[in-house]
Amino acid sequence: MRIPNAVPLVLFVSLALGPPAAQAANFGDPLPNLTPAQAAAFEAGKEEFAANEEVDEGLGPVFNGRGCGECHTTPALGGGSTRLETRFGRVVNGVFDPLTQFGGSLIQNQGIGPADGSPHTFHGEVPPSVANRVAGRRTTPLFGLGFVDATPDGTFLALALTQALFTPSTAGKVALVKNIQNNQLQVGKFGWKNQVPTLFVFSGDAYLNEMGITNPLFPDESCPSGNCAELAFNPFPALNDTGDGLVAFNDFMTMLGAPPRGPQTLSSILGEVVFTQIGCGSCHVGTLQTGSSPIAALNNATYHPFSDFLLHDMGTLGDGIQQGAAGQREMRTAPLWGLRQVTTFLHDGRATTLDAAILAHDGQGKAARDKFNALSATDKGYVRAFLKSL
Ligand code: HEC
Ligand code: HEC
Repeated sequence: MRIPNAVPLVLFVSLALGPPAAQAANFGDPLPNLTPAQAAAFEAGKEEFAANEEVDEGLGPVFNGRGCGECHTTPALGGGSTRLETRFGRVVNGVFDPLTQFGGSLIQNQGIGPADGSPHTFHGEVPPSVANRVAGRRTTPLFGLGFVDATPDGTFLALALTQALFTPSTAGKVALVKNIQNNQLQVGKFGWKNQVPTLFVFSGDAYLNEMGITNPLFPDESCPSGNCAELAFNPFPALNDTGDGLVAFNDFMTMLGAPPRGPQTLSSILGEVVFTQIGCGSCHVGTLQTGSSPIAALNNATYHPFSDFLLHDMGTLGDGIQQGAAGQREMRTAPLWGLRQVTTFLHDGRATTLDAAILAHDGQGKAARDKFNALSATDKGYVRAFLKSL
C-alpha cells in the first residue's frame, strides 16, 4: 500500500465517527425515529410481506413464490437469499428478443395445477427451445432501499456526469425507464438491470410477476408460457389486489433499515483505503445522500451503499439479457452494504467466495480486477477484511 499519509486521517475519521447514530441495530429492524403511525405502517407492511397467498386469493395461475417472504429471507425478513429465478431470450445478429410469445423474459416456474371445477392444469414454465440466452438472477436483499428510493433522480444524473468527466473508463450509465404509474421517464434504480424506478412500482411488478397477483399497476395476468388462451381457465379472473398490498409492501420496504455496519478493525479500515486506491470505489460508491422525505431517517440523510446504482458494461460478466434501458452486457453495480450476510455472489450466484466474485469482473471492471489480482497477499487480506465488515 502506498498512501501512508492518508492512513492516519482515515483511521481518525473512521474511529471518531463510528457507526452513524441513526443506524438500525439489527438486520430487519425498521428505520429509527419513526412516528407511531409510520411504525404501525411498517408492522402492517411486514405482515403482508411475510404472508403467503392462496389460489382463492389470486395466486397464479403461474408464479415463482407464494409470498415475498419466501425468497427475501436472509438474515431477516426483507433480506436476500441464494434463491435464483430465470430470465431467457433469443439473440440473433446481436438483437435481443425477450420471446414474449413464450412468456418471456421471466420464467414463472410453478403453476397452480388443476383449475377449480375444470379439467385444465396450469404448469410451471420452462425456457422454450428457441431461447439461446438463459440467465439466473439471485434474490437481492432489500435493507436500506428506502434511502435509494428517496435519492433524487438528479443525484444519479450528476453522478454519471461526474464519472464521465473524471473516470471515463469506468463511467456508469443512468437507466432511464418508464414509470408505469405516471408514464414519465425516470431513473431506474432497482433490480439487477435497474429495470424499475421506484419501490412502489417494484411492489406491483413483483406481486404480478413473482406471485401472479394482479393489481392496479399490473392488471393483466401473465399468460402461462405466453399462451393467453389458457387464461380462460383462470379460477380468479377479477383484479386480485385492489392496491392495499402495494401500499403495504412499499411501506415495509421503504422503512426497512439499512444494513448495520459490522465491526471495523485496523485491517478493514486499511482495506477500504486499498479498495479505493485500486478503483473499486469508482463504481461501488461509498456515500450518497437522500433528498427530502416525510420520514425523518430518510430526510436529507447520508447513507453508505457502496454502489452508484448506475449501469456498467461488465463485458463477459453481463447476463446476456436486454431489459429496460440495460443492454445485454450492462449490470447495476451491486450494492456491497450488508455483504457479510451474503453467501453466493454476483447476479446468478455463481461465485461462492469474494475472490471469485472480484475475479469475474470484466469490461469496465477489468482494470480494478487486475489491480486486485496484482496486490500483495497482505493487501488482498485487507480488502477482504473490509468487504467482510460491510
Ligand atoms: C421467487 C422468489 C421471489 C419472490 C417470491 C419475490 N422476490 Fe423480490 N426479488 C427476487 C429476485 C430474484 C430479485 C432480483 C430480480 C431482478 O433484478 O431481476 C428480486 C428483487 C426485488 C427487488 C429489487 C431489489 C433491488 O436490489 O433493487 C424488490 C424491491 C423486490 N424484489 C420486492 C419484492 C416484493 C415486494 C415481493 C412480493 C410481492 C417479492 N419481491 C417477491 C426474488 C423474489
Ligand atoms: C465498473 C464498475 C465496477 C468496478 C470498478 C468494480 N465493480 Fe464490483 N461490481 C460491479 C457490478 C456491475 C457488479 C454486479 C455484477 C453482476 O453480478 O453481474 C459487481 C459486483 C461485485 C461483488 C458481488 C456483490 C454481490 O452481492 O454479489 C463484489 C464483492 C464486488 N463487486 C467487489 C468489487 C471489488 C473488490 C472491486 C475492486 C477490485 C470492484 N468490485 C470493482 C461493478 C464494479
